Amino acid sequence: MANNFKYYSPTEVIFGKGAEQGTGKMLKRLGASHVLLIYGGGSARRSGLLDKVRHSLGEEGISVTELEGIVPNPRLDKVYEGIQIGKEQDVDFLLAVGGGSVIDTAKAIAYGLAEPEHDVWELFQHVRIAKKCLPVASILTIAAAGSETSKGCVITNEKTGEKRAYDDDLARPKAAIMNPEYTKSLPDYQTGSGCVDIMMHTMERYFTNGGNMEITDAIAEALLRTVMANAIILHNDPDNYDARAEIMWAGSLAHNDLTGCGNDGGDFMTHKLEHEMGGMFDVTHGAGLAAIWPSWARYVCEGCLPRFVRFARNVMGITLEGTDKEIAEAGICAVEQFYRSIGMPTNMRELGITPSDDQILAMADRCMIASGDHIGSAKKITADDAVEIYKNAR
Ligand code: NZQ
Ligand code: ZN
Repeated sequence: MANNFKYYSPTEVIFGKGAEQGTGKMLKRLGASHVLLIYGGGSARRSGLLDKVRHSLGEEGISVTELEGIVPNPRLDKVYEGIQIGKEQDVDFLLAVGGGSVIDTAKAIAYGLAEPEHDVWELFQHVRIAKKCLPVASILTIAAAGSETSKGCVITNEKTGEKRAYDDDLARPKAAIMNPEYTKSLPDYQTGSGCVDIMMHTMERYFTNGGNMEITDAIAEALLRTVMANAIILHNDPDNYDARAEIMWAGSLAHNDLTGCGNDGGDFMTHKLEHEMGGMFDVTHGAGLAAIWPSWARYVCEGCLPRFVRFARNVMGITLEGTDKEIAEAGICAVEQFYRSIGMPTNMRELGITPSDDQILAMADRCMIASGDHIGSAKKITADDAVEIYKNAR
């Protein structure tokens, strides 16, 4: 049966070749007069995208202040720096040029500037909720996190090693400019990690014991098949524009909540388990998900067998006759095979980390604190379960 739902996806999307040329006009229309332009470690400069954006904003008379050097698993110190600069310069709009890390930094700064009397980290500690947020837009250069249309924001407190998410519709970006051409410069590992993350945003919503809708499942299954087919194309032919476009649009649809309408809110424990790996070992998010998902899937599948069987049949193309358990296991094996085929890991060793027993206990404890009441749907996870899932993934 379908659950009641709210679907709110207010982001204006401009998609395709040359899309970035309209940046200035779009931001002017959205009311920007002084933009904080935020970017990462160099890719946007090297591609020439930054110069084009500066030019486009200048043509519309929009003032620009810049914040560069955002790193993957973006850090709280950079958020504080951005809030300080934003206050001094009186910025009224945030423009992120990059991927999830840059966009999430922009969202966190936007929260901080809207309510400067509070410490923004309190949102990520879940001790208060935001009342306001400055407007954010992005020019996306990597298809992965889906932050360009999502309500999510994930920041790492580098002092404590905590990687924490705060979800709120207030931070849904006003606009997303997406030109797949700019994703051609991505290293293969980042393209592959992005594809896994996109799949996982859909799979987190798919493997549930709550309600379902056929239309939602059908969209999810088509999205997963499309991402897998095009991920393989890009692994062999990274300059393929059409495959880049398919993946980029899938990334936005996978995390704007479209693939969760009518379900119970999804599982999301693979993400929560991975966030602790990111906080402790600074691993690439999508690759981390690939390394932990098979262990999670085998641990929970017995309690969610109908969904795992449907996934095996409709997504992974398993035709094997057997028990439900055997069909589910064949589907999980097929996912591992797919991950390997695009250079992604299927366990922590392949990911390049070897957490000790103590580190696993610490990650499990932190994961439970970060999860609060949201401890899964395919199976409700306890701290002991989390320890087992981490250990089985080593
Ligand atoms: O810093 P630069 O030089 O730009 O390099 C980046 C970075 O090293 C590089 N890159 C980006 N575009 C490129 C490029 N290199 C060459 N050519 C290009 N066109 O890619 C690297 C990774 O960038 P990052 O922004 O970290 O990638 P991604 O989009 O995967 O974002 C990951 C972050 O988003 C969070 C993750 O936890 C992680 O911190 N997530 C955010 C979500 C949300 N806000 O809704 C949901 C996700 O589940 C996820 O948790
Ligand atoms: Zn993700």
